[in-house]
Amino acid sequence: MSNISEIQTIEHDVIVIGAGGAGLRAAIECSKQGLNTGLVCKSLLGKAHTVMAEGGMAAALGNVDPRDNWKVHFRDTMRGGKFLNSWRMAELHARHAPDRVRELEQWGAVFDRTEEGKIRQRNFGGHRYPRLAHVGDRTGLELIRSLQDYGIHQGIHVHMECTVLNLLLDGDRIAGAFAYWREKGRFVIFKAKAVIMATGGAGKAWRITSNSWEYTGDGYAMAYDAGAELVHMEFTQFHPTGMIWPPSVRGILVTEGVRGDGGVLLNKDGKRFMFDYIPERFAPETADTEEEGNRWLAGDKDARRPPELLTRDVVARAITREVKEDRGSPHGGAFLDIASRVPEEAIKKQLPSMYHQFKELAEVDITKQPMEVGPTLHYCMGGIAVDADSQQTRVPGLFACGEAAGRMHGANRLGGNSLSDLIVFGWLSGLGAAEYIKSLSSKPEINPSQVEEARSEAVAPLNRESGENPYLLHEELQTIMNDNVNIVRTKEELETAIEQLEELKKKMQTVKADGASQYNPGWHEALSLHSLITSAEMVTRAALMREESRGAHTRIDFEGEREEWEKVEVIVRKGESGMEVIKQDRPAPPKELADIAYATLEELEGTNG
Ligand code: FUM
Repeated sequence: MSNISEIQTIEHDVIVIGAGGAGLRAAIECSKQGLNTGLVCKSLLGKAHTVMAEGGMAAALGNVDPRDNWKVHFRDTMRGGKFLNSWRMAELHARHAPDRVRELEQWGAVFDRTEEGKIRQRNFGGHRYPRLAHVGDRTGLELIRSLQDYGIHQGIHVHMECTVLNLLLDGDRIAGAFAYWREKGRFVIFKAKAVIMATGGAGKAWRITSNSWEYTGDGYAMAYDAGAELVHMEFTQFHPTGMIWPPSVRGILVTEGVRGDGGVLLNKDGKRFMFDYIPERFAPETADTEEEGNRWLAGDKDARRPPELLTRDVVARAITREVKEDRGSPHGGAFLDIASRVPEEAIKKQLPSMYHQFKELAEVDITKQPMEVGPTLHYCMGGIAVDADSQQTRVPGLFACGEAAGRMHGANRLGGNSLSDLIVFGWLSGLGAAEYIKSLSSKPEINPSQVEEARSEAVAPLNRESGENPYLLHEELQTIMNDNVNIVRTKEELETAIEQLEELKKKMQTVKADGASQYNPGWHEALSLHSLITSAEMVTRAALMREESRGAHTRIDFEGEREEWEKVEVIVRKGESGMEVIKQDRPAPPKELADIAYATLEELEGTNG
């Protein structure tokens, strides 16, 4: 065994892995609680999927419609999640989002304004009232910018371009993490009493995705390997509107804000097809005529929402169906038209990024022409199972927040609920970690044999004489997931995917990266495969187990929601002989929350207590 003392060691009380909105907010809170805080990110600070939540952050401020309150937000979230959300997390989220948004404003976020100078809020799918505080269509970017600017003065130690590979344990509790500097290829040990996982999702397991290269499921795989449980992994969100043409930009997000601000979906015959896809559950609150939908957008408080603002699972499935039945746009999607409904100046003012994105990448002027759009893998509702209040996992000292954590969004996330999730649960995980560290009676120690094992696994792809090409294996994974674990699923497809993933795992054992460890993207790709494939396998096995269609998980061999599946959740964890997937009973909902979730809107008006 070689000597690990030659490996650089950095010590913090807590390290936060991932520097998107959740990681930044968690690190700020840790620092405020007096902890020596390290923030480790695999990319450059500020480059995070958070910026892909463009249209806004949901919080019941009631600035545009005073009837809004946390209870209606909670009710919308539970209904959008098809009642599979953690009741407590959805409650905490809805109750605390307004304060977290106001705090962000105090820290420098420059929101768009109403005529009276309040934070402006726009409509989004599944939200009963205009609820999304926004900055044009660059809200995620503004959130990151504000947290960065504020966080930089909190004494947080930022470690950029540093990829964490393994969690280190002392017995069953957290002792730190093992990582490497992407540029130099040198290893580093982070000693820490607690770790907060804020690594986002695993979108890069699919070919068509709004996610960028960083989103390889690292947090899911590290937590799984360390003994944590994962929950709801079968629920993967396909955002209905990604760019589909030209091929080089396929998957890039087209914000839901386009529909929130009046855009409509049309098929190749010019038909506004969403009227044909209104589910019974949402029928009482959805306009069934164009005229009524238009009145709602124009601010008529008594009108019902247009069907383009149904939840994402419904809209993505509708587009997929139109394409399948040969009514799609030329490149296999639908048309999204805002040009014929909103004046040019308003489009440029409210949706400046969309205007430039289409102009520069697709040579389409969205103030004059419709966009061509189709579903793109955007978000994982599932994630690491955490305690709702502290965000701690079942591994002592391991916390998770944001997209890395599961249960908040149930079977389908409402647009805009991710940015508010990041700031609410980032904050709570910081408090949770501080509480945990305070309670420790002894300092955890690093186990050298774990470090040695992690190092030898990491260098294996460099040391092989020959082997599989990591880029081709990644491509193979994306084909498996695109062909078999997509918007609609069947038992046969999922079983095929599992067989193919097993083969892929064998190939991964012989992956070869050419060259040395410095500046070596092929080696980085090889090291991402474990997380990508582990995450893909979790999604696939959980999807095979859930024999119903609910939210973003559609089984054409098990149509519709089944009551018995609302009472359980699918848990994935590491067993003695591989991945274990089990059904676990859910606790009964607290009565006071169930009463809110099933109340009528009228019953909730003026009840913000
Ligand atoms: O469409 C969007 O702007 C995305 C928002 C979100 O995912 O929350």
